[in-house]
Amino acid sequence: MSSQGKDKKRYEELKEIIQKHAYLYHTEDKPEISDAEYDLYFKELLDLEKAHPNFVDSNSPSQRVGSKPLDGFTKSEHLSPMLSLENAFNDEDLIDFERKIKERSLVEGGIVYSAEPKLDGVAVNLLYENGKLVKASTRGDGKVGEDITHNIKTIKTIPLALIGSKFPNSLEARGEVFINKSDFDQINEDSEKKGEKVFANPRNAAAGSLRQLDPSVTSKRPLKIFIYGFGVLEDKDLPDNQYEMLSMASRWGLPINSETKICNSLQESIDYFEYINSKRDKLNYEIDGVVYKVNDFGLQKKLGQVSRAPRWAIARKFPAEVGRTLLKKISFQVGRLGSITPVAELDPVLVGGVTISNASLHNFDEIDRLDVREGDHVLLKRAGDVIPQIIEVDLKVRPESAKKVKIPQFCPCCEEPLNKDEDGVVLRCNNKKCPDQLIEVFKHFVSRNAMNIDGLGEKILEQFIGEKLITKIDDLYSLAHEEISELPGLGDKSAKNLIESIEKSKNISINRFIYALGIREVGETTALNLSLHFSNLEELMGANQDDLLEINDIGPVAATYIEEYFKDKSNRDTVYSLLEKGITLETNKIISDSFVLGKTIVITGSFSSFSRSQLKETLIKMGAKVSSSVSSKTDYLVSGTSPGSKLKKAEELGITILNEQEVENEFLN
Ligand code: IVH
Repeated sequence: MSSQGKDKKRYEELKEIIQKHAYLYHTEDKPEISDAEYDLYFKELLDLEKAHPNFVDSNSPSQRVGSKPLDGFTKSEHLSPMLSLENAFNDEDLIDFERKIKERSLVEGGIVYSAEPKLDGVAVNLLYENGKLVKASTRGDGKVGEDITHNIKTIKTIPLALIGSKFPNSLEARGEVFINKSDFDQINEDSEKKGEKVFANPRNAAAGSLRQLDPSVTSKRPLKIFIYGFGVLEDKDLPDNQYEMLSMASRWGLPINSETKICNSLQESIDYFEYINSKRDKLNYEIDGVVYKVNDFGLQKKLGQVSRAPRWAIARKFPAEVGRTLLKKISFQVGRLGSITPVAELDPVLVGGVTISNASLHNFDEIDRLDVREGDHVLLKRAGDVIPQIIEVDLKVRPESAKKVKIPQFCPCCEEPLNKDEDGVVLRCNNKKCPDQLIEVFKHFVSRNAMNIDGLGEKILEQFIGEKLITKIDDLYSLAHEEISELPGLGDKSAKNLIESIEKSKNISINRFIYALGIREVGETTALNLSLHFSNLEELMGANQDDLLEINDIGPVAATYIEEYFKDKSNRDTVYSLLEKGITLETNKIISDSFVLGKTIVITGSFSSFSRSQLKETLIKMGAKVSSSVSSKTDYLVSGTSPGSKLKKAEELGITILNEQEVENEFLN
């Protein structure tokens, strides 16, 4: 064989090996080889691709990330339409559903159903031709969606090529892309710390991640998928029912929900609903009901569809905590970094025992998606302690006077022109002196985990800013007793207390100080990592992208913002002025003889004698890398009370687990 031929053979082999082990690792959670071995295979594959660029095809494992951002989405027509579902809200609706099936099909005995949870995510269509993933698209209007192949390929549990052989020539696998609840909490926690927009719920986070033009953004989001059905299935020798077809798909490497069950009667179907309902809170993904599908494909075909929903499937929905009210006005809030968030002002309404008078609309895409207007009646949902959200507009009662909101061109506070971020979604006011933005900047600066200045609440800050006593953060350290004690509501005593707590904040650890500056993308952990990497503030201020990229957890985006921040003359002046006014920074150093140095640690649950953030800080200072999710790369899991799914995963992977007592003995003494 020619050397080219040998390389090609090895290349094909490698693709299969990598695909198999990626599946065992990501989907089955049962790795059979070490990460190092996996990396070696991957490197060999990359080397071959480098030597023979003509080998590379779009199904190579190397093609999951790294393709270039797109200019826009192209339309993509599904081979067969993606249908929606009728809803059932009680047992009677289900009884009705089965009665109609029997009447139509003349089947007399019991009907067998394949049942599974109804996920609250984003529907996608994956097209495999001869076992290779060739296209992925969103549902769109059911006939035509948007091509999101570049983003779908970043989801590691989706096989780029199916495992095994004898696949249909064409296979449309349909499923729901979602984000786990725990991953969602982590994403929002991180975004909040960085002063970025938070997502309303896991579904929005999944949808937002799939609608990225830049796949490298999507690849950082922990998206998951469950396949629940099929469109075109071009082959003769396939199972003749839903349940077995799903099992077959699972053997091909497609992720299937393990809660999928056969229900042999209507009673079993009702029991299944109760069973899933009782498990709902324990599942790590959000569901809003269960879906029943007539199992037999022949019977499905016979039953057909009405308008856009099949007669052979139905969704039984959970009762939601919903309320209905009038949306009076859509106003706009300015965030700390200038992002503009639309907020719905509502006629107060009681939902799940709490009075709701406003709800965030997040961004303009959300307003478009809901088609919500001022004067509309809207349905609101609150689940557990989730922020209330508008789920639907009651179009039947939309008054003629209902007013569409225009995307504002000028800041609602300072009236400067607004600009769109590169992602095309977030609208931003770039005026650093915008009063609403300033309030948020000061609120962040004085907050507990930043400079921790007691007594400087929002009202007082508003007053100080209104009186032009403070325009930059360093102005806080020039406030004089006389000027503030005369302000309404303050007086001699509170002025004295305030000056004292400002004075007290002057001795501060360098990481808190960096965090307090409010640099975009710099949350508490990044600030801590920065403080450990550079020996002093001067060094950080002079760092360029390359220096910054060497640090744990800092990617190109954060590196750019950090470099830009310290290049800006007014920012530098502010920092120097703060130091001149007496701020003294305690530097940090990695405690290098610790056994956790270089180890990857995950924390879960809560602790009685320290907070999670304290523990995280201590561990990072000892040179550990604290990560948010458990994988085979995790060295230790520190588990407190109510640990959640991370503990289970760590146990399965055989990771060393430490409890509070052990942590105190090992790290904190
Ligand atoms: S079956 C013909 N199964 O619900 C059957 N749908 O309301 C079509 N969904 O667009 C859908 N989990 O996005 C089915 N286990 C599940 C589902 C599910 C979520 C979504 C799907 C669909 C919508 C229909």
